Amino acid sequence: MLISGAKLLRKAHDSGYAVGAFNFNNMEIAQAIFEAANEAASPIIVQCSEGAIKYAGADMLYAITKTLSEKYPHIPVALNLDHGTSFESCVNAIAHGFTSVMIDASHHNFDENLAITKEVVRVAHSVGVGVEAELGRLMGIEDNIVVEGKNASLVDPAEAEKFVKESGVDYLAPAIGTSHGAFKFKGEPKLEFELLKEVKRRTGVPLVLHGASSIPDEVRASFEQTGGDLKGSKGVPANFLEEAIKGGINKVNTDTDLRIAFMAQVRKVVKESPSEIDPRNYFKPARAAVTAMLIARMKVLGSAGKI
Ligand code: G3H
Ligand code: 13P
Ligand code: ZN
Repeated sequence: MLISGAKLLRKAHDSGYAVGAFNFNNMEIAQAIFEAANEAASPIIVQCSEGAIKYAGADMLYAITKTLSEKYPHIPVALNLDHGTSFESCVNAIAHGFTSVMIDASHHNFDENLAITKEVVRVAHSVGVGVEAELGRLMGIEDNIVVEGKNASLVDPAEAEKFVKESGVDYLAPAIGTSHGAFKFKGEPKLEFELLKEVKRRTGVPLVLHGASSIPDEVRASFEQTGGDLKGSKGVPANFLEEAIKGGINKVNTDTDLRIAFMAQVRKVVKESPSEIDPRNYFKPARAAVTAMLIARMKVLGSAGKI
């Protein structure tokens, strides 16, 4: 059942687990996410970036989600706009039936971020849609813009408290040291868990971890077996995710792991069956690999069995 992100995450917050928020751009990955949720008996958030909307259309992405939510009516699911960069972008997603929007005005200063977020909250709440905002700035790639070290910053807990109180936002993504993509840490993985706990203590809302892909060894190996190159890649280890959930994370954003798991299988068919021309014979094993990876992830997040 398609429900508000606020309702879904409030339950996770109250019970101390996290829901995976998985990005998709096409039917096959959406099917893989729902199939995993069905097998693991897990609530899910499916989410689309502005890039996904540009690629497939908000109407198509909503239609895919709606169709799958009707096929699996027992699965609580929210459809989230990931990293909406403007008020207009959020309103467009809401108008297309999204049940959650992230307004990512983290590239603006605090006061501007607060003002834009307040406006989004006003519109979203009038139609029962949940709102996420980001404070601090993650490193990595957002919509093809590279956010480098000097532009990245960690969340300030006092600002987070003021921001949540004044904006009325339902869930908050505090920057605590993760980054998007496959190359998250130069040395050993490190996250600011104490900072996270302080933000949770001061805000009392569900918190969101962006850039949370783990790049599990077997997924990396399957990609590299076909000659793929992920040298130097490093994700957020599973035990870090568990610790982050104990510290107050209730939404775990994951895109890179799905991309790698999917493309590893496409690459395998390209390599092993050079005459294969039927797209279904590429996408079937790719879809199955994403499902298997996600079932394992839902167990790590503690959302498995929570339906
Ligand atoms: O946060 C970024 C997500 O992985 C979406 O990436 O903008 O390439 O669709 P995208
Ligand atoms: P990853 O790149 O770690 O999968 O993060 C995705 C994300 O944060 C989407 O908002
Ligand atoms: Zn993100």
